Amino acid sequence: MQRRDFLRTTVAGGLGLSTLARQTLAQMPRIEPARANPGFQPDVELALTAQRGDWAVLPGAQTSLWHFTGQVMKGDASVLSFADGSGHLPVLRLRRGQKVRIHFDNRLPEASIVHWHGLNIPQRMDGHPMYAIEPGERYVYEFEIVNRAGTYWFHPHPHERTSFQVYQGLSGLLLVTDDEEAQANLPAGEQDVPLVIQDRSFDEHNQLRYIGNMRHDWMMGFSGERVLVNGHPQYSRQVSRTAHRIRLFNGSNATLYHLRWSHGQPFTVIGTDGGLLEQARQQESLTLGIGERVDVWVDFSGQAAGSSVHLLAESYTPSLENFTETQQGEALQDGARPIAGFVMSNAPATEVAAPGRLSVYPALSAADAVNAGAPRRVQISMRMGSFYLNNRVFGGMQDVADDSVVKLGSTEVWEFANDARMGMGMGMGMGGMMQMAHPMHVHNVQFTVQSRIPADQSSALHRRLSAGFTDYGLKDVVVVLPGERVQVLMKFENHTGLYLYHCHILEHEDLGMMQNYRVEA
Ligand code: C2O
Ligand code: CU
Ligand code: CU
Repeated sequence: MQRRDFLRTTVAGGLGLSTLARQTLAQMPRIEPARANPGFQPDVELALTAQRGDWAVLPGAQTSLWHFTGQVMKGDASVLSFADGSGHLPVLRLRRGQKVRIHFDNRLPEASIVHWHGLNIPQRMDGHPMYAIEPGERYVYEFEIVNRAGTYWFHPHPHERTSFQVYQGLSGLLLVTDDEEAQANLPAGEQDVPLVIQDRSFDEHNQLRYIGNMRHDWMMGFSGERVLVNGHPQYSRQVSRTAHRIRLFNGSNATLYHLRWSHGQPFTVIGTDGGLLEQARQQESLTLGIGERVDVWVDFSGQAAGSSVHLLAESYTPSLENFTETQQGEALQDGARPIAGFVMSNAPATEVAAPGRLSVYPALSAADAVNAGAPRRVQISMRMGSFYLNNRVFGGMQDVADDSVVKLGSTEVWEFANDARMGMGMGMGMGGMMQMAHPMHVHNVQFTVQSRIPADQSSALHRRLSAGFTDYGLKDVVVVLPGERVQVLMKFENHTGLYLYHCHILEHEDLGMMQNYRVEA
């Protein structure tokens, strides 16, 4: 048996996927990997390789990871760097309007494909699992960056293996800049700090420990015992006493983070998934669903030289169990764990005025939606240990349900309804656990949250987490709490084709909590 078949059988068998789904996958016709198109004139050209490598993560033995590495073939060397010298968490820096060609080489022991999370690009470039390439193969991406300046990211998206591959270390950031951002005069260079937040568990040999093959484990998603920031278990960075832009990114598989500063100051939020806000907003805490990004501005000029400011985190599983206490790391402060430290340098402090107007973007109006009065509903439910979107589990790779076809150029309201009144006939003794938060993601668009209709009985925890949501910016992930209904407004622009929407808890996605949608001319 080939390794890929072995993995597929084990996972599919372990997760109890329907025979139908397995057959459909097995019968998938081979799609030729995209190749370089001689008519495409790239401004930037990169080689990006997914491979295995050993890295020092914890003290002692190195950890075997799967990770991206790469090389700039055309363009400025600054296009590719690695977060805090981690060597294995790539950060791509691109500019709006640039044409980019990326040669993706799969040197993993199994099939993979890369998805550019948040970007508006053609179907063939979006990393749909149907395009997964085998070990040794190459897929050439070519697209133009039309997205606004902001913090996007990329990760593998092969069907049923996304969670495993991301957990092994495969993810990276894609930062887009543009002229509008340059006008906003935001902190740059050393003062522009991306922070990738990911939790992992390790065995006694410092190797990654992941989930078991029980369906129950997968339903809960995997949350690790240690929080790594930019790949470091005890992240600390010396900073100058001035303003910084900190790009917070939750790159975990299943954990929701509720964040605040240790010095008691609110966050000054300047951007969300889809780029800069029109104006900065203050917020005491931030709740980051899986895959979410929030850009904050912070001024360290009032801090004493040598002192530290920490980013504090509470960690929640999808079932909203707070497991901060059982995580390892620095001592708790007020029920939260310091996950990143900023140590003030001795250089003189420089005060910087808080950012004013940041950007202008075309506001979508509910009145322009083709279905303003009747949102397209995406019902989230759970029965017999499976998650459903509109009563369906992801099946045929190219199947599109009638309720998932939209028109190019149209604006629509979608409602994600997290039905909390289920659980009958669950089996496996899971009666008490069906209330879960699901971070919902739509490929190919940035949406605005129109309304959030709370559960009939919302708990104090719901209200606490809600206070940390950034529902005001452009987003591509929105956390839907148990019993909640969230309406989003989005416009399907530039490309017809097949795209995905799914829960971004990676184990849920791999369990089939995912659907195709089609944009038609
Ligand atoms: Cu991060 Cu299908 O997405
Ligand atoms: Cu995506
Ligand atoms: Cu989910």
